[in-house]
Amino acid sequence: MGSRMDALLKSYTAAAYPAILPEGTLSALQSQVKSLFEAARGSHAWDHTLRVCRLCEKIGRAEKADMDVLRVAALLHDIGRFRQDNANGRLCHAHQGAEMAVEMIRDLPLADGQKQNILHCIRSHRFRGDRVPDTLEAAVLFDADKIDAIGAVGVARAFLFAGEIGARLHNPDVRPEDCRPYSEDDTGYREYRLKLRKIKDGMLTDAGRSLASERHRFMEEFFERFLNEYEGKG
Ligand SMILES: [Fe+2]
Ligand SMILES: [Fe+2]
Repeated sequence: MGSRMDALLKSYTAAAYPAILPEGTLSALQSQVKSLFEAARGSHAWDHTLRVCRLCEKIGRAEKADMDVLRVAALLHDIGRFRQDNANGRLCHAHQGAEMAVEMIRDLPLADGQKQNILHCIRSHRFRGDRVPDTLEAAVLFDADKIDAIGAVGVARAFLFAGEIGARLHNPDVRPEDCRPYSEDDTGYREYRLKLRKIKDGMLTDAGRSLASERHRFMEEFFERFLNEYEGKG
């Protein structure tokens, strides 16, 4: 982590909070959360949460994060998704999720500071300007969530999402910048050009940065090949 984050974390270190949550507590929470994803679409389904949990284990340990905070935050980070979908995007799932989580974490055997941090992690994981991740755990969750949108899984999710909204495989006649989102031209390639290829530069942790750059290289190679094959050159 950079020095700004180090300063913020002066009084909040993982060493002060060794991981204590019993496995049973986490699995009970997991079943509760899973049920909220029954109607979710494939590109944002329950298995995304599980992948983010696994990435958080890897990045969180490398960054020496508070794993209790991180495990709970990763499990709960997208619980507000169905509220955003039901409101056609007018509600922010990160804010909704943090609201919903207050009740769900109330009785967990964690310190108040840890619970506050969990809510902050959920609220800031989307990072659209108003809420910046400003604890180590929030930074790790942010990176893990974005890393699941790139690499081979990211490419697969991009095309899955395009399929869900009825988009074409590719449209070489319209520049990605000129395509409307949620239209038939909202293709996997458009998603890559406008969003996915920028993700690696927004990583907040060293471990996240190194995972992201590896996945980025694969994605670049994939789309180069995709365009060549599409044109009959590959
Ligand atoms: Fe999210
Ligand atoms: Fe997510």
